[in-house]
Amino acid sequence: MFNKRRVPCGLTVTLLFSLQSVSLSAAGDCAPYPVSVNLNNVTLGNTTARGVSLSVGSPKQSFAFLPQWPLNSTFVYGTDGYCGESWSEAGCRTFRGGAYDSSSSTTYKDAPSNHIEASPYPDFTWGKDDLIFNSNTTLLDFPIGIARSDWGAQGYHPQVAFGLGRNSTILNSLYTAGHIASRSWAMFWGRTGGTANTQQDGNFVFGGFDKSKASGDNYTSDLNYSNKNCASGMLVTITDLELNFPNGTTASLFDGMQSSAILACIVPDYPVLMTLPRDPYFERFESLTNESFSYRGFGVYYYGMLYPNPDSIYTGDLTVTLNNGFSVRIPNDQLVVPNLTIDPSTGSLNANGSTPELVINSIQQVNQGDLPQLGRQFLSSAYLMSNQDSNTFTLWNAALEEEENLVAIDTNNKPVDIYCAATPTSTSSSTSSPHSIGNHDKKLSTGAIVGIAIGSAAALAIVAAGVFLVVSKKKKKGVVRVNYYPTAAYRDPPSELGPSHMEPHVPNELPAKPPSPSHRFANIQEL
Ligand SMILES: *[C@@H]1O[C@H](CO)[C@@H](O)[C@H](O)[C@H]1NC(C)=O
Ligand SMILES: *[C@@H]1O[C@H](CO)[C@@H](O)[C@H](O)[C@H]1NC(C)=O
Ligand SMILES: *[C@@H]1O[C@H](CO)[C@@H](O)[C@H](O)[C@H]1NC(C)=O
Ligand SMILES: *[C@@H]1O[C@H](CO)[C@@H](O)[C@H](O)[C@H]1NC(C)=O
Ligand SMILES: *[C@@H]1O[C@H](CO)[C@@H](O)[C@H](O)[C@H]1NC(C)=O
Ligand SMILES: *[C@@H]1O[C@H](CO)[C@@H](O)[C@H](O)[C@H]1NC(C)=O
Ligand SMILES: *[C@@H]1O[C@H](CO)[C@@H](O)[C@H](O)[C@H]1NC(C)=O
Ligand SMILES: *[C@@H]1O[C@H](CO)[C@@H](O)[C@H](O)[C@H]1NC(C)=O
Ligand SMILES: *[C@@H]1O[C@H](CO)[C@@H](O)[C@H](O)[C@H]1NC(C)=O
Ligand SMILES: *[C@@H]1O[C@H](CO)[C@@H](O)[C@H](O)[C@H]1NC(C)=O
Ligand SMILES: *[C@@H]1O[C@H](CO)[C@@H](O)[C@H](O)[C@H]1NC(C)=O
Repeated sequence: MFNKRRVPCGLTVTLLFSLQSVSLSAAGDCAPYPVSVNLNNVTLGNTTARGVSLSVGSPKQSFAFLPQWPLNSTFVYGTDGYCGESWSEAGCRTFRGGAYDSSSSTTYKDAPSNHIEASPYPDFTWGKDDLIFNSNTTLLDFPIGIARSDWGAQGYHPQVAFGLGRNSTILNSLYTAGHIASRSWAMFWGRTGGTANTQQDGNFVFGGFDKSKASGDNYTSDLNYSNKNCASGMLVTITDLELNFPNGTTASLFDGMQSSAILACIVPDYPVLMTLPRDPYFERFESLTNESFSYRGFGVYYYGMLYPNPDSIYTGDLTVTLNNGFSVRIPNDQLVVPNLTIDPSTGSLNANGSTPELVINSIQQVNQGDLPQLGRQFLSSAYLMSNQDSNTFTLWNAALEEEENLVAIDTNNKPVDIYCAATPTSTSSSTSSPHSIGNHDKKLSTGAIVGIAIGSAAALAIVAAGVFLVVSKKKKKGVVRVNYYPTAAYRDPPSELGPSHMEPHVPNELPAKPPSPSHRFANIQEL
C-alpha cells in the first residue's frame, strides 16, 4: 500500500540533491535502509566494554553506548567519569563505556543550553558534535550532554547512553533527516556466556529490524505508559517461569499460583536477565535447585546472585512465558555466567568461574514491591523491536543467525523491503557532503518542502499536499501522546545510598538494602 508518511524523506532527499528527475513511484514505495550498528565489545583505547558501537567527533572517538529510559537526549562522560578515587582512568573508561575528550575533536562546538533532562539525570554540559553510526549514517552537529556528576545509578545504568524516551533526540533526528522510515529500533543483546561458543555479538537497528534475528511467531503489544515505573512503556505480564532440568522434567516457580501473574517492564539495558521477588519466586528457585544464595555480584551483571561453589550450580534452562502464551527459553549458558568484573586499576575485564553468577536479581525487603524488570540477558534469547510511531513493541524468539537481513519498518509498523535509491547512503560516502546533508535536513521546514514542491510539477504538488496533511496529523498525534505521559514518574536517587553511592560498588552483604535504582521509581501497589 502507498504510504504517505514515507514521502517526506524520499521527497526531501530527492529535492536536496536534485540528482535527476523525480521518480514518484520510487519515493512513494521505498523506505530508507535501516541503520544497523554493532552491539559488541567496543575497543576503548587499551580496554573494551560491551555496548552499541557509536563514535563521536573528528577524529572518531569510540563509545559503548546503551539505550536508556526515560532519557531523551544522548550523553557521554567526559575525561572525568566520576568513578571515585579508587578507580583509574582506564578502569573508569571501561565502566563508563568511553571517555569523551571534546578538546581533541575538531568538530566539537560548545552549545550551551538550558535544556534539562528530568530527574534522575544529572546536569550536563551541552555541546554538539558528529555522531557516527556506520559508514552510511552520520548525524552532524548532534546535541550531546557531557555528564557533570555521577548520578547514583551505580552498576545498574553505568554507561554512556542514548535516550529512547518519548521525545528521543536520536530517533527524532534520524527520522527528520530521512535516515529511518519510522521512530523504531530493534535490539539483540547477543550472547555473553563463559565460553567462546556461547558468545555472540548483538546488533542494534534503527528504523527497522534484522529479520535473521527473529524466529517464529511474534508477540506484539501496545506501548503502555500507564505504569509510571515503566518508562520504556514495554509492559508485559509473565504468566509462568519454568525450570527446565537437564533430565527433561520441568518445575514452575509459580507452583500452581497461575492466577498471580507478574507484571514486568522490559528495560533493555538492565544488567541482568530479570529482577524477581524473593517471596515466593526466588525462594522457590532456591528450593527447587537446592541452593541458598548469600552473595551478590558487583561486576558487569550487577546485583545478580553468586554461587558459592561452581560444583553446585543449576545446570538447566529457564522458560519465561508471557500472557498470550509466547515463551522464551533462556539457555543455561546465558543464565549462569562467570562473575565478570572490571579491574578498577587496569580497566581489564576479569571473568571468574570460581564464583559463577546467576543473572537474576532477587528483590526483597524494601524492594520487594518494585516492578520486576526484564533486562538485557533476556535479549540474549528474545529479539525486541519497538516503534514509537505505531506505539507498539514486538518480541520474537531470537534466532542466532550471524548474517544480517535488515527490514525497514514504517510508521504503521509494516515491513518495507524496497529501499529508496536516493537514501543518504549514496551521499554520505562522498567526503564533503555529509555536513551539508545534516544541516540542510534539520533546517528544511514543512513550508520549505511545500514551497519547493509547488514550484515543481503538478504531480509533485499533489504529493506535497499529502506531506502537509501527514505533518499536521503527526503534530496532532504528538500532542495526544504528551497528554498521557506521566509527569511525576521519577524520584531523585535515594539519599540513603550514603557516601558509597559515588562508587560503582557497594557493601557485599546480601541482607543489606539493595541500592536498586528502582528506588528512584515509586513503589507500585498493583503487585
Ligand atoms: C522525555 O520526553 C517526554 C515527552 O516530552 C517527557 O515527558 C519526559 O520527561 C522526557 N524525559 C526526561 C528524562 O526528561
Ligand atoms: C549502506 O547501505 C547499503 C544500501 O543502501 C547497504 O547495502 C549497506 O550494507 C549499508 N552499509 C552499512 C554499514 O549499513
Ligand atoms: C521534545 O524535545 C525538543 C528538544 O529536543 C523540545 O524542543 C520539544 O519541546 C520537546 N517536545 C515535547 C513534546 O516535549
Ligand atoms: C507479527 O505477527 C502478525 C501476525 O502473524 C503479523 O501480521 C505481523 O506482520 C507481525 N509483525 C511483524 C513486525 O513482523
Ligand atoms: C496498560 O496496562 C495496564 C496494566 O497492565 C492495563 O490495565 C491497561 O489496560 C493498559 N492500557 C492499554 C492502553 O493497553
Ligand atoms: C530431574 O531433576 C530434578 C532436579 O534435580 C529432580 O528434582 C527430579 O526428580 C528429576 N526427575 C527425574 C524424573 O529424574
Ligand atoms: C542439597 O545440598 C546439600 C548441601 O548444600 C546436600 O547436602 C544435599 O545432599 C543436597 N540435596 C540434594 C537433594 O541434592
Ligand atoms: C591501559 O593503559 C593504562 C595507562 O594508560 C594502564 O594504567 C592500564 O593498566 C592499561 N590497561 C590494560 C588493560 O592494559
Ligand atoms: C568480549 O568481552 C568479554 C569480557 O571480557 C569476553 O569474555 C569475551 O570473550 C569477548 N568477546 C569477544 C567476541 O571478543
Ligand atoms: C576468583 O574468585 C575467587 C573467590 O572470590 C578468588 O579467590 C580468586 O582469587 C578469583 N580469581 C581470580 C583470577 O581473580
Ligand atoms: C568476582 O571476581 C573477581 C575477580 O575476577 C573477584 O575479585 C571478586 O571477589 C569476585 N566476586 C565475588 C563476590 O566473589
